[in-house]
Amino acid sequence: MTIIEARGLRRDYFAPKRSPFEKSRLQTALAPTDLDVAEGTSLGIIGESGSGKSTLIRLLLGLDRQTDGTVRVTGRTVDATASARSLHWLRQATGLVFQDPYASLDPRMTTEQIIGEPLWALDIDGDRSARITEVLDQVGLEPSMAARYPHELSGGQRQRIALARAIVHRPRILVGDEPLSALDVTVRAQILELLAELRRTSDLTLLIVSHDIGVVQNLCDEVIVMKDGLIVERGTTKKVLLDPQHEYTKRLLAAIPVIPGR
Ligand SMILES: Nc1ncnc2c1ncn2[C@@H]1O[C@H](COP(=O)(O)OP(=O)(O)O)[C@@H](O)[C@H]1O
Ligand SMILES: [Mg+2]
Repeated sequence: MTIIEARGLRRDYFAPKRSPFEKSRLQTALAPTDLDVAEGTSLGIIGESGSGKSTLIRLLLGLDRQTDGTVRVTGRTVDATASARSLHWLRQATGLVFQDPYASLDPRMTTEQIIGEPLWALDIDGDRSARITEVLDQVGLEPSMAARYPHELSGGQRQRIALARAIVHRPRILVGDEPLSALDVTVRAQILELLAELRRTSDLTLLIVSHDIGVVQNLCDEVIVMKDGLIVERGTTKKVLLDPQHEYTKRLLAAIPVIPGR
């Protein structure tokens, strides 16, 4: 079953003016794009900075409004202009982890409040506190962490919390926009293992933006390669990494170290 479907999805932005006399220029961040993601699969998104990866993800999640085209998630049309309440179904279906775990966590909230927030915001019934304890355990954090504030935690612990928050409401789709990029090497390996574990033990659909080929190699069945707002290549991870067809992909891969094996 197709869980994410984009058709002719496009996003233009007004580029910042370089002088007050310059005319506003429209810049295409995402050229008309079609994308299908099958439920339970894992898709990696790679491409140089500014190639439109985050724009694509924001549009798929209804966090930004497209210039043109349509998005359907779990068969329903995403309308980014709809009220927060009428987008509950989309928030329920998706979880999102950003690059910077510090910026994405509210410093005035405890771990427990941060992780539990989607349960309250989405009106999810059941024993919320038991669910929070369960998710804490799932991401490898002690129950005592529940009372801590973000500034009392390490970068790795904060990213575990961001991940717990992204899965607490049992979304069908988990999206990570460079979720490991701000972490140091050891912590990155731990969070990567955690994501791999999540994938093994659930039928989550995973969308991961990363410039780290190791991440894509370990987590993704398929990869799309983006350049200047276009998907220039798509294929199984093995095929794209070992036998890239597009010149740009070849250059991109040559510029990043590829972890051998696995
Ligand atoms: N809110 C915005 N306003 C204006 N331009 C933007 C905005 N967001 C992204 N862009 C532009 O769109 C292009 C794609 O950006 P982005 O999707 O963030 O790329 P990536 O995530 O691949 O680094 C870039 O040229 C960027 O400057
Ligand atoms: Mg980005």
